[in-house]
Amino acid sequence: MASIIDKRLGLHQRLAKQEQENDALKSENTQLQALANLGSATSMIAHEINNLLTPLASYAALAVRNSEDKELIAKVLDKTMRNCERASKIMTSMLAVANGQGQESETVSAHVLVDEVFTALCRDFAKDGITVMTDVPDDLQMRCVPVQIQQLLMNLILNARDAMLPGGGTLKVATDQDEQHVHLMVSDTGKGIPASDIESIFTPFFTTKAGEDRPTSYSGSGVGLAFCKRVVEAHGGDISVDSAPGQGSQFRVRLPKSPPRQT
Ligand SMILES: Nc1ncnc2c1ncn2[C@@H]1O[C@H](COP(=O)(O)OP(=O)(O)OP(=O)(O)O)[C@@H](O)[C@H]1O
Ligand SMILES: [Mg+2]
Repeated sequence: MASIIDKRLGLHQRLAKQEQENDALKSENTQLQALANLGSATSMIAHEINNLLTPLASYAALAVRNSEDKELIAKVLDKTMRNCERASKIMTSMLAVANGQGQESETVSAHVLVDEVFTALCRDFAKDGITVMTDVPDDLQMRCVPVQIQQLLMNLILNARDAMLPGGGTLKVATDQDEQHVHLMVSDTGKGIPASDIESIFTPFFTTKAGEDRPTSYSGSGVGLAFCKRVVEAHGGDISVDSAPGQGSQFRVRLPKSPPRQT
């Protein structure tokens, strides 16, 4: 009899100890998850700021070479001011994501949103043999966190450009809508994506643009599409791609017209 009671007592003690260990592991897991979130937010912020600074640096260099050209200098200063404002918005926005804080969606014109992205890129696509076409109706309104959707578009556009270098091609940005969703499409006539890569392209740090043979200015970190996926999911939408080698690529983002109130 005594041995049964002892055994039960022993079992209870082991159970209590295991529960304690379980709780400790859970709290460690939460802390590690928070650190991982912060780590990925940090690389994403760095990546997005870099997307804004890189074209600005070459634009500023052009102004230095043409210091007599007052009009050019005024343009460069204007773009510097706008991209600095954008950089500060990105930091606030991404840090809020890292801290698990939602952000208020706003109703904005898709046309204005896309126009501002091309302004922030300050890039002459024609110089790379790229023709840009946009098909975004003036009256299409969408609800989103604008700075996040603009960075998403910027990443898709930069990837499209990379895929068409050095030969050039056509880059198209278009929008569409149905009753419940707004669709954003970015397509290119570039080299396309092999089927074996399609599953990996949204995974953080997957890139085919790294390698010793590539100059650092052209190498990628594999953060762009992971960032896009995160932004789309925070908006309650989804992102997909249609592509084949040699056939170009079309990225399609579907955003609900009524996203979660806090994104
Ligand atoms: N439009 C596209 N055409 C062909 N391949 C693409 C296209 N967009 C993405 N990819 C493929 O997906 C990979 C991941 O893209 P992602 O934007 O995440 O990273 P990256 O462009 O390599 O680097 P980063 O964006 O961090 O500078 C790319 O390296 C490329 O192989
Ligand atoms: Mg990219």
